[in-house]
Amino acid sequence: MKILIIGCGLLGMKLYENLRKEKYDVYGTFYEHPIENDHCFRLDITKIPDVNHLINKISSDIIVHTSAVTNVDECERDRKKASSVNVQGTRNVAYAGGKIGATVVYISTDYVFDGEQGFYKEAE
Ligand SMILES: NC(=O)c1ccc[n+]([C@@H]2O[C@H](COP(=O)([O-])OP(=O)(O)OC[C@H]3O[C@@H](n4cnc5c(N)ncnc54)[C@H](OP(=O)(O)O)[C@@H]3O)[C@@H](O)[C@H]2O)c1
Repeated sequence: MKILIIGCGLLGMKLYENLRKEKYDVYGTFYEHPIENDHCFRLDITKIPDVNHLINKISSDIIVHTSAVTNVDECERDRKKASSVNVQGTRNVAYAGGKIGATVVYISTDYVFDGEQGFYKEAE
């Protein structure tokens, strides 16, 4: 099975390494921090043609999307960038993955909630 990890940061790189150990055919992407590895490619998820090109080229069965601007304070300061990467970028990955029939897995965060309640269900 072929798996593409989009965004080999803290979480993505752990996934990448563990899946490789399990002998999956794994590929990864980076953005500002290059990864010297034949199976890893630079990708900016805000660039639709680049996203389509890479996803078509790898043509994986599964795409795990872990790319994001994860610094919450930075997201508050630069909402345009946060939206461009975390919202539009995610949409770009979801569309491109859907077009090739891949299963797209998105990793969210509890930072999307305001902390007023707890024990949310996955659908909320
Ligand atoms: N770590 C946790 O414990 C945890 C817990 C719950 C949820 N999550 C969620 O899991 C996801 C990943 O978290 P993380 O801790 O692994 O974050 P991280 O270490 O900050 O990694 C983020 C990744 O996104 C990439 N990226 C940033 N901007 C990009 C762009 N424009 N185009 C393409 N890639 C871009 C970064 O690439 P470069 O580094 O090369 O620039 C990096 O590989 C996030 O959605 C986070 O909310 C993480």
